[in-house]
Amino acid sequence: MPVRQIRHRGLSIGQISERTGLAPSAIRFYEEEGLVSPFRTDGGQRQYERADIRRLSFVMIAQQLGYPIKEIQQSLEKLPENRTPTKADWARLSKGFRKDLDAKITQMQALRDKLDGCIGCGCLSLSACKLYNPKDRIHKKGAGPRFLMGDTLDED
Ligand code: FES
Repeated sequence: MPVRQIRHRGLSIGQISERTGLAPSAIRFYEEEGLVSPFRTDGGQRQYERADIRRLSFVMIAQQLGYPIKEIQQSLEKLPENRTPTKADWARLSKGFRKDLDAKITQMQALRDKLDGCIGCGCLSLSACKLYNPKDRIHKKGAGPRFLMGDTLDED
């Protein structure tokens, strides 16, 4: 994204770094990827809008959740460029993530609740496997840890 020329004062990359916990190099990387767009003051200083803290925080968390940069970029394109995004703008953006996040939450809850038991992965290494996945019957549903993926054994 090109650096804009604006007259008001914003935050320096150091201040943004301090508040977000992101290294300046990471902020510059996100800038190169077009995820955040600083402006220059009349004095030529590179500055960021206060709303960029939220924007960068979103990027950071989305990345931690495993979303690729390209997908994050596409989501951020839904926010307005010439004004601070409002709650409604962010709500529009979050709509696209909701279904996927719900699926991730369900999977994480299953992981939390079932990790110490049989997960239906085919290893048959726990005594509980004999009870919950006798003879690896869950494999009929496909590859992977089927119980963590939401499958259950059909009643015979
Ligand atoms: S934990 Fe792998 S099949 Fe039970």
